[in-house]
Amino acid sequence: MNRALPDVQLRVPTDEDAIAWHRIFADPEVMEFHGGSAAELSEYEELTARQRRHDAERGFCLWTMVGPAGEVLGFTGAQPWPHAWGPTGQIEIGWRLGRAHWGKGYVTAAARTTLERVRTAGVSGVVAMVDARNERSIAVTQRLGMELAERCTIPGSGQEGHRYRLAL
Ligand SMILES: CC(C)(COP(=O)(O)OP(=O)(O)OC[C@H]1O[C@@H](n2cnc3c(N)ncnc32)[C@H](O)[C@@H]1OP(=O)(O)O)[C@@H](O)C(=O)NCCC(=O)NCCS
Repeated sequence: MNRALPDVQLRVPTDEDAIAWHRIFADPEVMEFHGGSAAELSEYEELTARQRRHDAERGFCLWTMVGPAGEVLGFTGAQPWPHAWGPTGQIEIGWRLGRAHWGKGYVTAAARTTLERVRTAGVSGVVAMVDARNERSIAVTQRLGMELAERCTIPGSGQEGHRYRLAL
């Protein structure tokens, strides 16, 4: 891709960002591969608080993405894999964007910054777990140069998942 990536700022998520995430992710298209319906505000309050702890302890987290006009676009970043199944003990990279902001390169830009920061923090490799039907997310992993490491069944949804990996 030869186009310049768009400008996107990353900040450690605030209490107010939990409200913004809750508002912009309450959309069936955004949640299609995350159970299909909007999550409660309390889930985003817990998620953002956990990211503040990760940032303090590790120097990286799932960051709030902020666009050129100061608007919250979504999140992108890295965190320790948060489930008992799957790649426990590894660092996952992840992204979620409000629907109005898809198709502009924001996540690719934010994910490249994430990889630089995580490498600087001393992490030697990252993983991404993606529903096999989630073509837009798989396209992000391809733009980052990730390789398919494993096909598995995602507990809960029972759908096929793809685990991608990238050495840093
Ligand atoms: C997955 C998701 C983040 C992908 O968003 P996205 O906007 O397609 O991804 P990017 O930010 O990398 O943007 C790439 C798109 O922007 C376009 N683009 C426009 N201007 C661009 C620019 N200057 N630079 C790069 N790409 C640009 C690209 O052509 C591409 O569009 P296309 O796929 O239609 O060709 C988004 O669909 C989403 O939030 N989905 C719901 C949550 C989710 O499933 N998360 C992942 C769970 S594993």
